[in-house]
Amino acid sequence: MKEGFERGLAFERECFLALVQTPESRALRHAFFGERAAGKIADVPSNKPVRKIERIGVVGAGTMGGGIAMNFLNADMSVVLLETKQDALDRGLATIRRNYNYEAQVGKGKLMQEKVEERMALIRPTLSFGDLAQANLIIEAVFEELSVKEQVFRQLDEIAKPGAILASNASMLDLNKIASFTKRPGDVISMHFFSPANVMKLLEVVRGEQTGKDVLATIMQLAKKIKKTAVVSGVCDGFIGNRMIEQYIRQALFMLEEGVLPAQIDRAIEKFGFAMGPFRMSDLAGNDIGWAIRKRRYREQPDLRYSRVADRLCEMGRFGQKTGADWYDYQPGKRDAAPSKRVDDMIVAYSAEQGISRRRIGDKEIVERLVLSLVNEGAKILEEGVATKASDIDMVYLTGYGFPLWRGGPMLYADTIGLYNVERAMRKYAKQPNGCAWQPAARVRELAASDGRFNV
Ligand SMILES: NC(=O)c1ccc[n+]([C@@H]2O[C@H](COP(=O)([O-])OP(=O)(O)OC[C@H]3O[C@@H](n4cnc5c(N)ncnc54)[C@H](O)[C@@H]3O)[C@@H](O)[C@H]2O)c1
Repeated sequence: MKEGFERGLAFERECFLALVQTPESRALRHAFFGERAAGKIADVPSNKPVRKIERIGVVGAGTMGGGIAMNFLNADMSVVLLETKQDALDRGLATIRRNYNYEAQVGKGKLMQEKVEERMALIRPTLSFGDLAQANLIIEAVFEELSVKEQVFRQLDEIAKPGAILASNASMLDLNKIASFTKRPGDVISMHFFSPANVMKLLEVVRGEQTGKDVLATIMQLAKKIKKTAVVSGVCDGFIGNRMIEQYIRQALFMLEEGVLPAQIDRAIEKFGFAMGPFRMSDLAGNDIGWAIRKRRYREQPDLRYSRVADRLCEMGRFGQKTGADWYDYQPGKRDAAPSKRVDDMIVAYSAEQGISRRRIGDKEIVERLVLSLVNEGAKILEEGVATKASDIDMVYLTGYGFPLWRGGPMLYADTIGLYNVERAMRKYAKQPNGCAWQPAARVRELAASDGRFNV
């Protein structure tokens, strides 16, 4: 004030110039442009004509189906919601109503009570596939079993009108196989929502081998209408997000048997900025989901090394917050995670049984192993063309997995610390007893050698 306006302007400029060069500023700009870049697809021109989407069908009114339907109701679009049995349908409708009432109560989304009724009136509940015949887009959210998906897609193929888009919300199943259950694989795509689907911004749009370009363009445009950040992924096990998170969790489990306890790991990565550490996240989703994936890995990739410590937890019947017990203990109706002596004792006993002498692991190593495991898998995803640009991977992690926005996502983080340092850390961890996961991806090696970056 005392020094005058001109001096004030100069001071403001000095501050601006200092701040604009910080990694945090760069990360926020990266997120801003990354979101826009995600909508640009190299082989699909932006003026590609799209299909008209007015009527939506959702198959399955469970956790995901209900949340998915809410996205369209919120955009004033009507939804035909299909279930196999009346009680499942009633349960699904009651959950949607409860979610809306909750939003109205807490003022989230500024939803007024009268709007709840308006939204609910846009749902047409049904038990008959015939009622989906007029839908332009039908999204399937039934059980994660290929045989159930097959049954549903064969039925949809029979009744859907020509030109209708058939979308799957499957998490880990092969979209090309699902498309092959129909006589119109060009109309089949994956819309992979994240839970809770009415809240999470991320939508992975998975293009199958035969997905039509206009189908892809239509879904990308629709995603904007329902206010999602859509990122295109190719077909692979877990797509972009879950494929990477599997490696991150694998490291977390290795560290448990090597010497740390869940609370230390969660605390370290939350201090780094993640919304939630791997164990609190696993408790929220239910540890049984990871168990099902691991059992499949043991069968399909018997040479892949995995710590079995999480299996012990499942064998103890601890399946997540929903059972009141998992990596942590939970009081009924509360979400506060309290470290569990039983679990911590089980982990220490597991190490002893495996002949592992537990060692102290610092927060730096915890964070490095978790974040760089994402980077290494992300690099492989880029090499394979499953993601076409590094910023797409960053957008997946910023909008779907609670990666700190101000760090810009795993690939930008790798750029920030430098690929030379990333590779060096990977080689260091490769020498440890659980080093099997640390062979640096070819893309990491190339960029380290050429002083390159993922995000150019
Ligand atoms: N829960 C998550 O966090 C999550 C996240 C992303 C994707 N997904 C995927 O979404 C899909 C659904 O998962 P969910 O968690 O909602 O499961 P869920 O068990 O809560 O719901 C599935 C619903 O589908 C119904 N259903 C089963 N067969 C049917 C059929 N033939 N016709 C109509 N309805 C049928 C069931 O009655 C049930 O209500 C799965 O493929 C899952 O992998 C789940």
